[in-house]
Amino acid sequence: MADKSLQSLISRAAGLCRGAERMVAFTGAGISADSGIPTYRGAGGGLWSKYDPDKYANINYFRKDPSYYWRFFRDVRHSFLDAARPNTAHEALAQLESSGKLKAVITQNIDGLHQEAGSARVLELHGNTRRFLCQQCATVFGLTVVWERLQASLPPTCPECGGELRPDVVLFGEMLPETVLREAVEAARTADVILVVGSSLVVHPAAGLPVLTMEHGGRLIIVNVGETPLDGVATLKIDAGAAEVLPQLVGLMAQ
Ligand code: APR
Repeated sequence: MADKSLQSLISRAAGLCRGAERMVAFTGAGISADSGIPTYRGAGGGLWSKYDPDKYANINYFRKDPSYYWRFFRDVRHSFLDAARPNTAHEALAQLESSGKLKAVITQNIDGLHQEAGSARVLELHGNTRRFLCQQCATVFGLTVVWERLQASLPPTCPECGGELRPDVVLFGEMLPETVLREAVEAARTADVILVVGSSLVVHPAAGLPVLTMEHGGRLIIVNVGETPLDGVATLKIDAGAAEVLPQLVGLMAQ
C-alpha cells in the first residue's frame, strides 16, 4: 500500500480510537506472523497448506491417534514456540492496555505472546499451546515438563498418574471454554471500538464477536493483510502488516 494512503488510514484509525472509552482488540494468527509463527490461511505461511488440520487439529482424530498431534507438536509447533518472541504489534497492544485505552485482548491465538508482551487481560478463546493437562487426573503442566516427557515417550504420559496428556487448546469439534467465551462476548458487546488484527475472520463463533460489537453500535477497524468477510461493513480497513501499523497507530493515539 502506498505510504501516503497508509499514513492517512492510520491517522484516521487513531482519530477513531482516541475517542474510544471501551476499546477491545480481537487478534488472530496474523499478529504473530512477524514473530515467525506461520498463519493458518492467507499470507504469512499458510500452515494448513502443509499439515492437515483435520488430523492434527481435530479432537476425533486426536482421540483415535494422539501420536499424530504429538509428532506435529514435536517436529513443527514447538520449533515456532521456542523461537517466537512478541513483536511490536503485541507490544503496542500491551502499551495501549497499560495506558488505560484498551480493556481487553480477545485472541484466537494459542501462542501466549500477548501475555509475554505484557498484556494483562487476554481472553484466549482457543486455549494456549504452552499449557497441557492430564486426561485422567486433570493436573496442569507447562511446556518444559511436557517437552521432557515427549522426549521419553510419544504420546507423553502424565508424571503424576501415568495418564494421557493433551494440549490445553480447543481442537476442531470441541466447544470453546465457556467462561472465557462469556467474558469475550461481554467485552465485544460493550466495546465502542473493536480493533481486529491479523485474522481471516472465517472461524466461528470467534469471528462473530466483531459483528456483535457493530450490532451494539460499536465501530469495527480491521488491520489485516488480505481480505476478510467483514471488510465491507468495517468502519475502516487497513490492508497492511500489524507490526508496521500498530506502533504508529498507538503512537498517534497518544498525541
Ligand atoms: N499482519 C496482519 N495480517 C497478517 C499478517 C501480518 N503481518 N500476516 C498475515 N496476515 C493475515 C493473513 O493474510 C490472514 O488473513 O492474517 C490472517 C490470518 O488468518 P488465519 O491464518 O485464518 O488465522 P486466524 O484468523 O487466527 O484463524 C482462526 O482458525 O485454524 C483455526 O483455531 C485456529 O485460531 C485459529 C482460527
